[in-house]
Amino acid sequence: MKPQAVIFDLDGVVTDTAHLHFLAWQRIARDIGIDIDEKINEQLKGISRSESLRRILAHGRAEARVDEAQRLQLCERKNALYVESLAQLNPDSILPGIAGLLTALRAQGIRTGLASVSLNAPRILAALNLTAQFDFCADAAKVARSKPDPAIFIAACEGLGVKPEQCIGIEDAQAGIDAINACGMASVGIGEQLSGADLRLASTADLSWARLETFWLTHHSVAV
Ligand code: BG6
Ligand code: MG
Repeated sequence: MKPQAVIFDLDGVVTDTAHLHFLAWQRIARDIGIDIDEKINEQLKGISRSESLRRILAHGRAEARVDEAQRLQLCERKNALYVESLAQLNPDSILPGIAGLLTALRAQGIRTGLASVSLNAPRILAALNLTAQFDFCADAAKVARSKPDPAIFIAACEGLGVKPEQCIGIEDAQAGIDAINACGMASVGIGEQLSGADLRLASTADLSWARLETFWLTHHSVAV
């Protein structure tokens, strides 16, 4: 028995854009007198743009002095910086193991989906030349709540026409693992620090269809 679909997070799983998000936020935060480090960035993974700003403002105890209009402006400026930095992405920026896994899944007749809360996801897939490798890319603009809410994963399952219990989700963020678990998918975590993942791997280089198939068979026999 195989899963019907494998649903991927984008940032940190398909390509490493987390650092580009960080550099853009760091410049914006510095302009308003807030220092952020990689530890804060960890808490922004899988979190929407506006919620990321809210967390940065809370970290700098600056929530009260930045109104809604200014927040929108800061988000726009952050995105402009981020989009500028995306120009450096190309197919070589795909993380190890991902291209091979996508090809193998499709050869197995297993559907592939993307569940990213990034509004830039289609642009990033195009830069990586991966658009055609995904059967469905959930539209972050149509999902109001970011991870750990499972909404984006449920949207991906609906778009693929599959049930969450028949799917594997792959994530590098704690909020993402929590979202996958909340909708009943089997969760694969990339990174040693994640808790609650059904399978935890050190890096995307450890991903392969053979590894996922063994995991699925074991997970399923435990689940039923
Ligand atoms: C997620 C990232 O994939 O997308 C977050 O992990 C980011 O860090 C979020 O804030 C939203 O991205 P964007 O491109 O819409 O600003
Ligand atoms: Mg991620």
